[in-house]
Amino acid sequence: MTGAAGFIGSHLVQTLLGLNQKVVGLDNFSTGYQRNLDEVLSALSALQREQFVFLQGDIRSLSDCQKICEGADFVLHQAALGSVPRSIEDPKTVNDVNVSGFLNVLLAAKENKVKRVVYASSSAVYGDAPELPKRESKIGNLLSPYAVTKYVDEIYAAIFARNFGLETIGLRYFNVFGARQDPDGDYAAVIPKWISSFIKGESIFINGDGETSRDFCFIDNVVQANLLAATAEKDAANQIYNVAVGEQTSLMQLFELLREALAAYHVNYEQRPNFRDFRDGDIKHSLADVSLAKKNLGYLPEYMVGDGIQKAMPWYVNRV
Ligand SMILES: NC(=O)c1ccc[n+]([C@@H]2O[C@H](COP(=O)([O-])OP(=O)(O)OC[C@H]3O[C@@H](n4cnc5c(N)ncnc54)[C@H](O)[C@@H]3O)[C@@H](O)[C@H]2O)c1
Repeated sequence: MTGAAGFIGSHLVQTLLGLNQKVVGLDNFSTGYQRNLDEVLSALSALQREQFVFLQGDIRSLSDCQKICEGADFVLHQAALGSVPRSIEDPKTVNDVNVSGFLNVLLAAKENKVKRVVYASSSAVYGDAPELPKRESKIGNLLSPYAVTKYVDEIYAAIFARNFGLETIGLRYFNVFGARQDPDGDYAAVIPKWISSFIKGESIFINGDGETSRDFCFIDNVVQANLLAATAEKDAANQIYNVAVGEQTSLMQLFELLREALAAYHVNYEQRPNFRDFRDGDIKHSLADVSLAKKNLGYLPEYMVGDGIQKAMPWYVNRV
């Protein structure tokens, strides 16, 4: 697995080791943390911990990718530099990691005869397509270098399937959230960033008018989708699937949901959000049609946004 020390990767490590699988993780700690792995491993049995091998390395190195693919049945590829604004500021590094790094993963998987590569794509691929809900077959003009990298990954995956018979499944994640998602830094995602601001009593900024909406997807749904994608029948492979809930939440609704959830922890936030300009590269609305993943993978998202917030909150309250 790549990106094992990141938010989504560390949850996959946790679930797979919990299922007594052997996991080989790769991460260069650029946006992930040793503490994520420590947290996961400390909650497992000694026997399960022994099934984990970690390599501190980089997907931009073909030989590091070879090392983790050796003897592997499946590759779950999560490593990437996320965030639209980061990609606008530094498209070169983001391309090197997200595209060249992914190409290395595919090459190493092919050479080691891995059964299937399941990789993280993104709802950013929908770009400015106005249709809601988003269906896998219809994308618009891409709006950021980040979106380009994820789209190129999808094309590369299809080419490896066609030219080399490597099975791949791309998962277009929509705004994932949960414990261990980094609340700090310039590129933090909205949910952890806001929870942290609520707890610290800091101002909250909304880019746009607050009506912007997203399909927020709790991490456990994403873990489920990855496991199903790895083990699905062959005819479900070499496709791309939306991974979300199919529930539209505006930023103002999210603000209220988080405020109410935190009140249960005696965090009483009286301030109103501050509105500022929309960000370059962002889309106004995002909502997934998840029927293809339901039909082909048997995906059934268990957590709606409110359930996920309840489940994630204790972690944030203890962490911030
Ligand atoms: N979180 C979301 O809402 C979301 C939405 C859509 C897509 N995605 C995609 O899901 C994947 C995981 O995202 P996340 O939210 O867990 O982010 P994250 O930043 O927490 O995890 C990414 C991990 O990859 C590692 N990494 C980055 N560059 C690397 C490199 N060159 N070599 C090795 N490791 C490297 C990082 O150190 C980090 O641990 C990414 O591909 C991301 O683009 C995430």
